[in-house]
Amino acid sequence: MPAFNQHIFVCGNQRSCDHPRGCCDPVGNNALRNSLKAAIQERDLGPLIRVNSAGCLDQCELGPTLVIYPQGIWYGKVQQTDVPRIVDAIVSGEVIKDLLIADELLNTKGRGRTYPPNEMGQQS
Ligand code: FES
Repeated sequence: MPAFNQHIFVCGNQRSCDHPRGCCDPVGNNALRNSLKAAIQERDLGPLIRVNSAGCLDQCELGPTLVIYPQGIWYGKVQQTDVPRIVDAIVSGEVIKDLLIADELLNTKGRGRTYPPNEMGQQS
């Protein structure tokens, strides 16, 4: 049995203000991650849901960005005010449509990979 049912990876990458891709945490205070952690703890969901800091998730232009696994739900333009409804949605198994980064917008989409690799170790 897995130790956690879900992991939330929150981009906390910091870049200079003039970087063309921007960044998810220009202040560098991990405020979004900290708010999520606090909300998870307040609801005593800590044993099931783990919130982790992440470096750049390669969705910079759509940030602040987070991803929830194992579902692979990507949220963009996330604000601290969204935290309660994100936790609500995780608990209820729903997806927040206005935060969802559509597959076709994911910067990593379109490389033609699926998992697990085939017998030759290649991605199909
Ligand atoms: S800086 Fe957050 S996804 Fe790249």
